[in-house]
This record gives sequence, structure tokens and C-alpha cells, in this order.
Amino acid sequence: IGRKFFVGGNWKCNGTVDEVKKIVNLLNGAADIPPKDKVDVVISPPFVFLSQVKSSLRPDLSVAAQNAWVQKGGAFTGEISAEMLVNLGIPWVILGHSERRLLLKESNEFVADKVAYALSQGIKVIACIGETLEQRESGQALKIIAEQAKAIAAKVSDWNNVVLAYEPVWAIGTGKVATPAQAQEVHADLRKWLKTNVSPKVAESARIIYGGSVSGANCVELAGQPDVDGFLVGGASLKPEFTDIIKAGL
Ligand code: G3H
Repeated sequence: IGRKFFVGGNWKCNGTVDEVKKIVNLLNGAADIPPKDKVDVVISPPFVFLSQVKSSLRPDLSVAAQNAWVQKGGAFTGEISAEMLVNLGIPWVILGHSERRLLLKESNEFVADKVAYALSQGIKVIACIGETLEQRESGQALKIIAEQAKAIAAKVSDWNNVVLAYEPVWAIGTGKVATPAQAQEVHADLRKWLKTNVSPKVAESARIIYGGSVSGANCVELAGQPDVDGFLVGGASLKPEFTDIIKAGL
């Protein structure tokens, strides 16, 4: 069985009520979005717009939060718990994004704990990993990615609800997309890593998506790589070309 194509739209810290309306209207009016049995589409607005998006977005598209607290909610000022996301009916969460790893110093272990907690609450996870330019240039990319994957794998027993997002930091928001060959190399390596360290079954079924300057112009070639199972899109998810990216896997 082939892996279903997966496209996430990570709006990051962008948007106003009116802009959210515009993007949702655009998606709702897009007649050419493939049916849900062909592609999973998950839109991730900032927390404050989750309810607005959830209640106005067409039902064949799904919604994700961009973060969740690492344990049960309580006295954690400024945090949003997985329980709250469940309460709102939000099925997905993005965890371990490099912007949080680097700017907010989220460690491999902290990210892995978040992944495990969200899964324990029944929320599906887009778990992000990826190397910096410095790490790539010093030949450490695969080692760093394996360490990030290892921390997550140590705390995940059921991979059915996890999508792995490979996002090289040097490609994020830079317009410097990984070449299809670069993306394929890392995705294939990650799959090999899963085969050896988790199981052949998980390696075969887990979706590994690529993120970093994906656009309408480069998505088809990237999607053509055998181990690229979809995308996590930042900037272009706020633009009309997002619907072209959704179709790239067909
Ligand atoms: O989560 C999305 C990624 O960080 C990619 O962002 O498409 O703006 O480069 P970008």
C-alpha cells in the first residue's frame, strides 16, 4: 500500500482575522483539491485562530496547532495543553519545529516528551527534524537528524499517528530549497534508520515529508522523489499557490 501524500500548511506567527478569512475562503473555493483518500491536508494557524479556522474550513481539510505543552495543563502561564486541543477538536499538532528548537531552546528530549504526551492524548503529530547549515557543511547532517529521530523514537510506540517532517534549517524561509536529490538522500536515509531502529513495517508506512522553501514552482519535482511523501509548507501556505502544492503528489 502506498503512503498517502500529506501536505501541511504552517502559517507560523502570521495572520489577522481578515487574512484568515481570505485564506480559508480561498481553500474552501478551490475546486481542484484532491479528495481526502488521495491527500491529507492539514492547516496550522496560530493558536488564537484555531477555532475560527476549524469552524469555517471545509471539512475535508484538517487543522493542526503549532505547539502544545509537554504535560497535562495546569500552572504553566502562556502554554496551551494537549487537553485543550482535544477539547477544541483539533486533531493534529506540529512539534519540534526548528524555530522552537533554536529560538526557544527546545531540546531533543523535550520535543520527544511533547510528542509522546500529545500522542497519549490522541493528537496526531507532525514531528520536525533537520540540520543547520553549519551542521550540514561540517558533514554532520545525517548524524544530527538521527539523534533527533532517536530521541523521538525512544518515546513513541505507535507510529500510525506520527508524520516526520524533514526540514533543513538552511532551507526554511530562505528561498534556498533543498534539491530533489538532497531531500531524497535524507528521506531515504531516515527510512533506513527507521527500518533498523524501529521496524521494517514502520519504515515502509511512515510518511516523511519535506519542508523548506517549498513553492508552486519546485513542488512537483520534489514530490516525484520516491521517499518524499509530502510537504510542510511555510510561506507558500499563505498564498494561492498552496493549492498547487496540495496537488503535487498526484
Ligand atoms: O514549517 C514550515 C517550514 O518551516 C518551511 O517554511 O516554507 O517558509 O520555508 P518555508
